[in-house]
Amino acid sequence: MTETPTEAPFYNPLQDGYDADPYTHQSEMRELAPVQQTLVGPWALFRHRDVFELLRDPKLSVSDDSVAPENLETERYQKFEEMFADSDYESRQSMLSTDPPDHTRLRRLVSKAFTPRSIEQLRPSIQALVDEALDTMEAEGVTDVIEHLAFPLPFDVITEMLGMPEADQHKIRDWSEALVKTLDPIITDEEIEAAFHAGVNMNTHIEQVIEWKRSNPGDDLLTAMIEAEEDGDRLSSRELRDQVSLLFVAGHETTVNLIGTGLYELLRHPDQLALLADDPSLDANMVDELLRFVAPVQFSRRITTSDHTIDGQVITAGSFVLACLASANRDPELWGPTADELDITRDGAGQHVSFGSGAHYCLGASLAKLEAELAIGSFVRRFPTASIAGDPEWNGRINLRGLSKLPVEVAP
Ligand code: HEM
Repeated sequence: MTETPTEAPFYNPLQDGYDADPYTHQSEMRELAPVQQTLVGPWALFRHRDVFELLRDPKLSVSDDSVAPENLETERYQKFEEMFADSDYESRQSMLSTDPPDHTRLRRLVSKAFTPRSIEQLRPSIQALVDEALDTMEAEGVTDVIEHLAFPLPFDVITEMLGMPEADQHKIRDWSEALVKTLDPIITDEEIEAAFHAGVNMNTHIEQVIEWKRSNPGDDLLTAMIEAEEDGDRLSSRELRDQVSLLFVAGHETTVNLIGTGLYELLRHPDQLALLADDPSLDANMVDELLRFVAPVQFSRRITTSDHTIDGQVITAGSFVLACLASANRDPELWGPTADELDITRDGAGQHVSFGSGAHYCLGASLAKLEAELAIGSFVRRFPTASIAGDPEWNGRINLRGLSKLPVEVAP
């Protein structure tokens, strides 16, 4: 009897249960439709080899200028157009959405502050912030990891690095949350509107901060960037604003997910937690394995600049392609039969693509790793018997997936 061919399934992050477990569905995509055009327009890649090649291919673009007009005719872009037409809000010029040669210039201007050696100097101040957070958690007994550790730590560290003034954390957190929603492949009209208003508010806030910093310079990254802008041809005012905004948002919206979801997974794998609590030499590998296992940024995006063939499928010039980092990180073709298991002693855990790859490889990778190493390592050694004390809440994002609440019970 001949089998009736079944149609390849489509990627659907709106299905029930996806927020708690996106991996089962992604694994199905990797097996049955690893290179596909999604129902909302962009192409999506799920295998490690395709993702890795795409991210490192210099022929691809990250700039919206490369998108073919017909690919901007979706509801999503029509709504963006409508919002932009009614305002003087300009599109962003951050290095994340800029191609060479501008990308190279913008990245070079800030990269010195993010080298492993510069970041290592922050160790004592990050440890002090972690210890203070753990003191508060210990005093509470039943407490929330996100509220006390996973969110404030990266937020305070990037605020301090940039030399930002004290500001209303809640307001900035709300804007930033609304803004990063635009990184999701599916977004509602209301979310687009909220992101637009948040973008306007964030721009105004950053512009005010830059003005304040001009008369209050310090030994910080923002002062160094302002000097580059005042030098004239190296950085325009708008570029300055957009790099500060990117560093600020990327500096905390991603690491919160690594620390929060990472600790959640360790608490759900008590054997791994016990191993780590007993052996600090595992800290660095633990961070790489958690990055592989939870992928705090689930997708990167590229735009084809010429017809591009992957696996016999032709992706025409000017198309969006989403590289599923989370799925690549669990591809058995690279990781073998234990791809879906958490193993903090895994050899080669650092081959994950959670920080991307190629020219746009995460500038903050060393910083994020150090924050996670100190936060998670210190937490498990101070509270080796910690346990989950209620239902965790997911943040509802498809791309920057993480927890907005993780109740735990801690005792020294
Ligand atoms: C666990 C935490 C983090 C993860 C998972 C992460 C992930 C990523 C990924 C996947 C990219 C590449 C996007 C692409 O290929 O299109 C990226 C780029 C970037 N990240 Fe991170 N990131 C993290 C933390 C940070 C931190 C702490 C900072 C800064 C303070 C930062 C700053 C940046 C910047 C500036 C870029 C753009 C680089 C470029 O375009 O050349 N990230 N990040």
